[in-house]
Amino acid sequence: MINLFLLGLPGAGKGTVSEQIVDKYHLTHISTGDMFREAMANETKVGLEAKSYIDKGDLVPDEVTARLVEERLNQPDIKEGYILDGFPRTIVQAEALEGITKRLNKPLTKVISLEVKEETLVSRLSARFMCKKCGATYNKITKMPKVEGSCDRCGSHEFYQREDDKPEVVKNRLQVNEKMNTPLKDYYQKNGLLTIVNGEQTPEKVFEQVDTVLSKKE
Ligand code: AP5
Repeated sequence: MINLFLLGLPGAGKGTVSEQIVDKYHLTHISTGDMFREAMANETKVGLEAKSYIDKGDLVPDEVTARLVEERLNQPDIKEGYILDGFPRTIVQAEALEGITKRLNKPLTKVISLEVKEETLVSRLSARFMCKKCGATYNKITKMPKVEGSCDRCGSHEFYQREDDKPEVVKNRLQVNEKMNTPLKDYYQKNGLLTIVNGEQTPEKVFEQVDTVLSKKE
């Protein structure tokens, strides 16, 4: 069973490599960012609360996020293991996750930190665009749809830029997340779960390295 936490700053490629991992290992992808975006689109109570933080590039409060993750991790569809993408993001969340995984008997088995330079992150986020219908992620520089103007996954013709990928928000998002990145790495280094992967490479090379980590028996 692989229960993975993918750590990385905004734009590090967590979502991109998660898709490749799911294809090969059939893990359940749990992205707190995706869950919040869905809640915002449905205008639920959590969604409305999250929006006020996300649109500014701030973090949603720890207790709201941890509750959402516990509910998700408790669902019966998680059979082959899970990928946590974007959670935990603070030490309080990391400690909460320890409690959650103990209660549910689904302990983390690996942590991978994708390391990418700040200038690359800024350039990736400003070039990212998404399919309005299915949420597939593209990039004006590195990943255009195969057929111009048409989503590879669902064929839709409508795309948008995430509100929090606009330049004025990206700056704050990076600052907020950078503060917590080193303490989180230290936390998982100490418990022996952490592996660092160079996220500056092509998506194929990044996945090759991630795959090596995941296929290693403990
Ligand atoms: P979330 O959606 O998790 O955003 P994020 O962490 O900022 O990460 P991103 O989705 O922006 O980037 P990514 O690493 O997945 O990169 P991607 O693969 O798309 O969270 C959004 C917000 O929700 C947060 O700001 C916060 O407010 C709130 N939130 C979420 N979790 C929370 C938590 N735990 N606590 C509190 N609040 C929380 O790639 C980016 C671009 O680069 C794409 O265009 C892609 O095509 C391209 N790309 C990817 N890899 C490569 C590569 N190797 N080479 C070239 N291009 C690449």
